[in-house]
Amino acid sequence: MPEVDFLPAGRRAPRRSLFSIALGALLLLAIGAPWAADGAPSAAIASAHPLATDAGFEVLEVGGNAFDAAVAVSAALAVVEPYSSGLGGGGFWLLHRATDGRELMLDGRERAPLAAHRDMYLDADGRFQPESSLNGPLAAGIPGHPAALVHLAETYGRVPLAKSLEPAIRLARDGFPVDEQYRRLAGFRLEVLRQSPAAAQQFLLHGEVPPAGATILQPDLAATLEQIATSGRDGFYVGPVAERLVSGVRAAGGIWTLEDLAAYRVVEREPIVGRYRGWRVVSAAPPSSGGVLLVQMLNMLSGFDLAALEPVDRAHLLVEVMRRAYRDRALYLGDPDASIIPLDLLTHPFYAAGLARDISPDLATPSVPKTAREQGADTTHFSILDRDGNRVAATLSVNYPFGAGFVPPGTGVLLNDEMDDFSAQPGVPNAYGLVGGEVNAIAPGKRMLSSMSPTFADSDRGVAILGSPGGSRIITMVLHGLLSLDAGQEPAAWVANPRFHHQYLPDEIQHEPEALSEAERRVLEARGHRLREIGDGYGNMQAIYWDRKADVVRAASDPRGIGKADAR
Ligand code: DON
Repeated sequence: MPEVDFLPAGRRAPRRSLFSIALGALLLLAIGAPWAADGAPSAAIASAHPLATDAGFEVLEVGGNAFDAAVAVSAALAVVEPYSSGLGGGGFWLLHRATDGRELMLDGRERAPLAAHRDMYLDADGRFQPESSLNGPLAAGIPGHPAALVHLAETYGRVPLAKSLEPAIRLARDGFPVDEQYRRLAGFRLEVLRQSPAAAQQFLLHGEVPPAGATILQPDLAATLEQIATSGRDGFYVGPVAERLVSGVRAAGGIWTLEDLAAYRVVEREPIVGRYRGWRVVSAAPPSSGGVLLVQMLNMLSGFDLAALEPVDRAHLLVEVMRRAYRDRALYLGDPDASIIPLDLLTHPFYAAGLARDISPDLATPSVPKTAREQGADTTHFSILDRDGNRVAATLSVNYPFGAGFVPPGTGVLLNDEMDDFSAQPGVPNAYGLVGGEVNAIAPGKRMLSSMSPTFADSDRGVAILGSPGGSRIITMVLHGLLSLDAGQEPAAWVANPRFHHQYLPDEIQHEPEALSEAERRVLEARGHRLREIGDGYGNMQAIYWDRKADVVRAASDPRGIGKADAR
């Protein structure tokens, strides 16, 4: 059985004659391949946890490349940041291979179980029951994270999977210390974690949030990682681990089957590519909405001179651009294997020009009002560059903090609650206030729409690798990051700059306190915008910039989190 589906099959490279290959090689020698000469002056890793960044460097130091380091960082994050991502979740790994310039998005997104159906979170009266798509095993999609680790190591790595999993296995077996972020998020999900005895045993201390400095030991997770290290995907998707996952899920009211696990496949997809003021922007393809929305927003913005605008006019313009892109998210985006998505149209500059045509310089365009629930706070992003110029941008998730809060006994695997990213009912907002329709409705085996947006930007000025968690706000965070890059700022500024966001519905500008001055807020309100301050800030961006002109690599980790970025 093939390990991976390659899509879209119709777009595979045509066969070339030997003559044209030789001619191409000669031409590249003469003019220099765009990706040649791409040895970077240092390797760099930025991740949301210092122990994960260290795990990545450990694997680079024993001869691994950026893809091996990505396996090490992903697996380590699954251990030390259980509230963000893990073996029970999924994600998107955006890859750039230096030897041939190949770029792809490894789609390890969760799938709906085969027994899932569109009304599974509605009660007898047809009302959406939000708790059931967020808490417990019924909320969990079939994980893609383990399959992605195996595929990354076997297809793109240089060292054996067992080597790149070593740091994570050690961290699970020997433990890691609880920090304040862990405490805050465990507190947020305390009631749910208490309902799963195996989760409570793994993540709590006598049913309470453990104190800072306490050691979290995860022997079952170490054993599951060891199974993957020795048996590859079969260590998770068939055999004893799979049996424990399925029996644990079913005993607690879930609907997984062994067939669900055995049938899971990662997919290599062509990333979404756009252009903005000399930058080639490469980002996540559906089932993420990230790349499409980013390119739409950049296309709309390319008709304006942002640097010439007053800050408040710039904010107004950005909000109007965000609003228009997120409207399309709800209308057109979902799993590309289940629906036809008009990608070429949505990312075309002419289409963006049409969208931008009715932006008024001094009046907000109203969205149709709806209400939203509060935004959750986790998922994780990391960025890696190695000295050969290989790049990885990966955004991984279990959705809500600590996912579904459920661990099938004997596995150490905390399950995701990514099913909430489907549109459970047309027009009814999910945990991030996002609405959707048929294209993102639940169906057996379907992938739920995501906002995760691992992104590269490349020009003769340099190479940027960036991304962030933050639910629906991820895409606008990456947009702010790209605009800061274009404005000549350093990665330390991209990750730290105050942020604002609009997602069509709810019709409000969500902003960090420092993002808009009092005077700017008054002007925006007078133009018809509603504002909501997000007091604690949001996001956890991890970024790398290789400045080609200065031949220097800089990495930065969002000051809102506890991450670590380094270039060596
Ligand atoms: O895939 C998505 O879009 C969401 N599950 C991501 C969740 C997230 O970023 C939570 N962090 N605040």
